[in-house]
Amino acid sequence: MVSERGGAVDIVGVSHGFDTGSILSVLDDVTISARPGEFVALLGPSGSGKSTLLRLVAGLDRPLVGEVYLDGAPIRGPHWTRGLVFQDPTLLPWRTVRQNVGLGPQARGRGAVDVDKIDAALELVGLADFGGVLPAQLSGGMAQRAALARALVNEPRVLLFDEPLGRLDSLTRRDLQGELLRLWRDRGFTALLVTHDVDEAIVLADRIVLLSPRPARVLEEVSVDFDRPRDPTDPRFVELRRAIFDVIDNSAVER
Ligand SMILES: Nc1ncnc2c1ncn2[C@@H]1O[C@H](COP(=O)(O)OP(=O)(O)O)[C@@H](O)[C@H]1O
Ligand SMILES: [Mg+2]
Repeated sequence: MVSERGGAVDIVGVSHGFDTGSILSVLDDVTISARPGEFVALLGPSGSGKSTLLRLVAGLDRPLVGEVYLDGAPIRGPHWTRGLVFQDPTLLPWRTVRQNVGLGPQARGRGAVDVDKIDAALELVGLADFGGVLPAQLSGGMAQRAALARALVNEPRVLLFDEPLGRLDSLTRRDLQGELLRLWRDRGFTALLVTHDVDEAIVLADRIVLLSPRPARVLEEVSVDFDRPRDPTDPRFVELRRAIFDVIDNSAVER
């Protein structure tokens, strides 16, 4: 799926680590590309380096080796064209939902957003009637919708999702997976979704990049080339799930 709104992301030869007394190697020569408007899942075990990788694409950190590009230009810092949605909604508890949604762009130096845009974003995620309430009055799923609205109000070209549905119950999670796909289709942004959930990756993505345990390197990339909505009991789904676990198991044997 090619889109005019979505940005092209290129992660090229990225290695990264942290000085924790000794050097902790976290990313090992990672190269991943996402075409404009593509939905790419980055699938790897906990602690493999997925969040670190996403932070580099967000521009919150610079890679020690290699480079990350948006539409061919090196990413040098955070920018409103690249939105980030975390596992926790990180809403300010003393601000209303509407104020929280309006705060993202201001914090990124884009100036105040008009209320119409904020309300449009809230409408988009099904929170039209909740702009005036405080985050404490929202359920977990609603809070995550608000976090989504906060990212969407910027009309980002790339949305980076760091296990955004990880803390939700399975029914709410299923609901929001559908919502994510609808927004992605409507808005045309490029989506990079970090997850450790194989089924979630298959439900959502055009392409799945399998990452090894830390230090993360790309084990394999698989296309998910059957239509959405994807039913976990569909034989193609079952087969792909098995193929993915095979790659993961074989990589464990290699080590
Ligand atoms: N700022 C940091 N300083 C030191 N170690 C870090 C830092 N950020 C992450 N790590 C370490 O890097 C590894 C990968 O972390 P992370 O990218 O959060 O993995 P994932 O998101 O796949 O669970 C972990 O061992 C974590 O402890
Ligand atoms: Mg993480």
